[in-house]
Amino acid sequence: MNRWLPTRELIASFLAQVQPAQSHLLLIGCSAGWMLPTPWLMRFKRIDVYDIDPLVPFLFGLRHGKALKAQGVTLHFHRQDAIAGLPSLLLQHPDACLWFDNVLGQVGFRLGDEDMAERQLGQLKTMLKGRAWGSLHDVYSGPIDPEMPLPSYQTVQWKRLDDMPEDAARVAMDLEQRSHAEAAQLLLTKVNAKGVWHDHSTQTVFASNTPTVMLPWAFKPHYWHWLQAAWIKP
Ligand SMILES: C[S@@+](CC[C@H](N)C(=O)[O-])C[C@H]1O[C@@H](n2cnc3c(N)ncnc32)[C@H](O)[C@@H]1O
Repeated sequence: MNRWLPTRELIASFLAQVQPAQSHLLLIGCSAGWMLPTPWLMRFKRIDVYDIDPLVPFLFGLRHGKALKAQGVTLHFHRQDAIAGLPSLLLQHPDACLWFDNVLGQVGFRLGDEDMAERQLGQLKTMLKGRAWGSLHDVYSGPIDPEMPLPSYQTVQWKRLDDMPEDAARVAMDLEQRSHAEAAQLLLTKVNAKGVWHDHSTQTVFASNTPTVMLPWAFKPHYWHWLQAAWIKP
């Protein structure tokens, strides 16, 4: 989809810098891998794909299968809840690295409880201690002003500076420090947000002081998302 192309390119640039030593990837919630660059997947020898959607083997295969097969990458598909089942996946695959592919921002919707989602998401990093892992996920989403020119596709460096309650927390944003509320407001201003925006409860997925990048995404013509990405080395 052309509207998604600029964000796909931003994700490809981000992942081009991610060069894990592991040859085995657990790819979680990737759907067809619409936003994933095939060349990044080709660096692995084995990829285990986890998604609850039964169409994923077919759709992911259509999009990436041929190139991965030609490169000798073996693909294994699993239809299962990989977030609830994460502890057992980690035990089964002690040497694999993990990429959560735009799935963690949906946990709140699935659970129907934002506080529970925030608690669950905040615990993932503890389970993943000692692993190489990364995530791309929604942080905010909502309508933009259709009367204004289209926002630009500029990424923003973003680092939560401590573990204080969210309203007191500070954020280092493109080298400037701001209160969390101010920094969030600035992100929304950058995309000409208008109306009510949704917070995806993903603020604590990464530990404080983790350098992350925020990427704008025109999900629908006048409905944008701010995605966050980071890769954690053990
Ligand atoms: C927003 S889509 C991902 C889109 C995809 N990353 C892309 O770039 O095109 C989220 C995907 O996560 C899957 N999913 C949601 N919760 C999941 C879970 N607990 N375990 C595994 N997959 C999950 C959904 O079935 C869906 O395919």
